[in-house]
Amino acid sequence: MERYGSYLPMTSSTPIVTLKEGSTPLVRSRVIGPELGCEALYFKLEGSNPTGSFKDRGMCFAVAKAIEDGAQHIICASTGNTSASAAAYGARYGLSTVVVVPAGEIAIGKLAQAMAYGARILAVNGNFDDALKLVREASEQLELALVNSVNPFRIEGQKTGAFEIVDEIGDAPDFLCIPVGNAGNITAYWRGFNEYKDKTDGRVPRMMGFQAAGAAPIVDGAPILKPRTIASAIKIGNPASWRYAEEARDESGGMIEAVTDDQIIDAYLRLARQEGIFCEPASAASVAGVLRMPELGVSLAGRTVVCILTGNGLKDPSTAEQRASVELEYVEPDFAQLEAVLRSDPKSSI
Ligand code: F0G
Repeated sequence: MERYGSYLPMTSSTPIVTLKEGSTPLVRSRVIGPELGCEALYFKLEGSNPTGSFKDRGMCFAVAKAIEDGAQHIICASTGNTSASAAAYGARYGLSTVVVVPAGEIAIGKLAQAMAYGARILAVNGNFDDALKLVREASEQLELALVNSVNPFRIEGQKTGAFEIVDEIGDAPDFLCIPVGNAGNITAYWRGFNEYKDKTDGRVPRMMGFQAAGAAPIVDGAPILKPRTIASAIKIGNPASWRYAEEARDESGGMIEAVTDDQIIDAYLRLARQEGIFCEPASAASVAGVLRMPELGVSLAGRTVVCILTGNGLKDPSTAEQRASVELEYVEPDFAQLEAVLRSDPKSSI
């Protein structure tokens, strides 16, 4: 709100609501980009936002507008990150926050955040799509401001990610790779690049959206009743911004494609072990997507690519434990033993 306020629909009575979100690092790939022959591959670390995901960009503005409108209560459905973000801003600005989540489907770090920030947490016996339907109805019937990305101010706030990319690399990238769940973020980035065309001589990136194969309604062309994927953040069968995601794809000459859970985990591990970046599985879908682009017939040679890494790896420690586990080696507090153990690994040159 502070950096890009002139691009946002602010009025003289919109309060500044902030936890210093945005201005996240754009980190250049050292291994994956060169391997693919890219001119440059960048990772935008949205996990560096105050609650650990990109949601904070839009949530601060949605909460500011709710306060401007006199709201005292906010509500959202969530696969976890939206609820953590809503709960944080709600706590900071004295709004009561209700989050509705699919029971048993939320990564533990995200649930811990909503609890710590003091939100009221309702777990529904259903999936995210059921929860979203429920909160839409609740916001119509009750005095509750809806802060899901169907709230236009969420999209407005999130478009600032595109501004930052252009400001940092001095142009639009050739490709923007982004995970797609409820499809709000791809909608927001596309709007942001379009509103910033005067800084890029009219250039905009091709928008490359990636869904998890078991939760890929846009790729399949039909809603999915029982979405399945290890990437719980994007386990969504009927995205609210479906039409806008297709517009972003078609107007930019991009694609929306699926990546399997195995491809997501492979990218998740490569990011951590080759690039030093720990993101959550849903975020790794963007990198799994880049790795698929040559096979989809899209050449990356000489191209500039930005992957949006939407959330922090610490959000979902269970997946790390299950899919990135390393056996612990136990030692007594004794140097000789430590040395023997270190030297016993034939792969190590210690
Ligand atoms: N990555 C992460 C880490 C997310 O939490 C989400 C969405 C997405 C990607 C997809 O973004 O929905 O705008 O297409 N999480 C929402 C939530 C649904 O409730 O936290 P999208």
